[in-house]
Amino acid sequence: MIYTYSLPDSVSFTGKGLVGYNFGPLKQKDLEIFYVESEKGHDFFMISRKITRTYYILSGSGYFTIANERYDVHAGMLVEVPPKVEYCYSGKMTMIGISKPRWFSGNDTPTKWNPDVVSWGGTLVEERQPWVTRLIKARILGKSPLNAYLRYNQALWRRLPSSFAAFRPIRWYGNFLNALARIQGSRSQAHSTFFLRNRPELELIRRIVDRRPKGDTLRVAVLGCSTGAEAYSVAWRIRSARPDLALVLTGVDMSPQAVAFAKGGAYSLTHPEVACTKVCERMTPVEMEEFFHRNGDVVTVKPWIKEGINWRVGDIAEPEIIDSIGRQDIVVASNFLCHMVRPEAEWCLRNIARLVSGGGYLFVSGIDLDIRTKAACDLGWEPVTELIEEIHEGDPCMTSYWPFDYAGLEPLNKGRPDWKIRYAAAFQLPPNATVSPIQPENQHAVATARP
Ligand SMILES: C[S@@+](CC[C@H](N)C(=O)[O-])C[C@H]1O[C@@H](n2cnc3c(N)ncnc32)[C@H](O)[C@@H]1O
Repeated sequence: MIYTYSLPDSVSFTGKGLVGYNFGPLKQKDLEIFYVESEKGHDFFMISRKITRTYYILSGSGYFTIANERYDVHAGMLVEVPPKVEYCYSGKMTMIGISKPRWFSGNDTPTKWNPDVVSWGGTLVEERQPWVTRLIKARILGKSPLNAYLRYNQALWRRLPSSFAAFRPIRWYGNFLNALARIQGSRSQAHSTFFLRNRPELELIRRIVDRRPKGDTLRVAVLGCSTGAEAYSVAWRIRSARPDLALVLTGVDMSPQAVAFAKGGAYSLTHPEVACTKVCERMTPVEMEEFFHRNGDVVTVKPWIKEGINWRVGDIAEPEIIDSIGRQDIVVASNFLCHMVRPEAEWCLRNIARLVSGGGYLFVSGIDLDIRTKAACDLGWEPVTELIEEIHEGDPCMTSYWPFDYAGLEPLNKGRPDWKIRYAAAFQLPPNATVSPIQPENQHAVATARP
């Protein structure tokens, strides 16, 4: 019988302004207890359908907004938030929270962003969504007909030979299902990552840096770097191909835990930590030998790859990120924009583009293709078509998620007139690419563009 509980090793939920850890699961089936470290506050205002939440402030101070009233709080105070009222909190504080009953999907309706936490502002109110979207997301007797429809299709889809997806009507239907999954899927960030995740992409980076003059300085940023596998892979590719270049590589992630782990550069082969993926599973024994020193089940990145990398905790959606890392020759942004809601992803992508020097390269994958295509067209990015198909297929997990996961990557379709810009994951930015901040009116346009 277990009577005591420790904090779990890995984060249970994250936001832009907080991380949270759930204890248990407890034996009391209707109770959940969690610990929150709030740096800035909860990302959005919300209305809980059934859960009453009670917060005890352990340290720090801030304020809760409950039913439009502000309540200042500090260490030692207790806050009780009943269901059916809009609320949010802001401030730098640690708290113990109690949910009764336990959290369940569909309990919380987000209403608007918390301006203390997010930069892009705008509305989240369900009523602002087109009626088709609201109809699709409707629940009948607490159940989602869309979920049932997707589950039924998924069961059928699994029985089809994979070659069927090449047929045009099946592809169309798959895209339709994926559009539904993107409307329906509630999004959350994860830290999953792998060394050598997309080999053709690394090869394209090699070819691009091969054109640099001897002894040149090369500035590269890997954004949303999680526990470091991607940044180390990029450093390995560049340093092994061009040891003469002065590489200034910066890895950025909003999770302090992931960044601390990345900085250490030590990975257990048997107990995936933080990233929760076996980060080395795509490497050959020869590559493992080249990358790591091994001690038992722990491998540590060799100094010639590791040294000189700058690791930063930062939020890429913040306009100030450019002041902290500066402009870059190459920016890599993989597999995190897909976990953002549309206005956030649009805002963030434009903010990322500001980091790329004129004529520099942006590698952006793991993102809604409509959002990427629109930004590329609006901002005059030149798609790099070298290795376009190989890079598109280069990360097997993203293609395997299609069509039932919102993050799934649709099969490359050369029948589309816009296929080069739609499927390119690498772009060269115009020589006059600007660093000017995203204008508030654009911010509004982005925010209201949500489906
Ligand atoms: C799924 S991992 C991807 C890791 C790596 N890029 C890869 O492709 O293997 C996504 C990472 O992006 C980070 N992230 C998400 N939103 C971010 C933001 N606004 N600013 C900085 N990091 C962010 C998450 O903390 C997480 O570690």
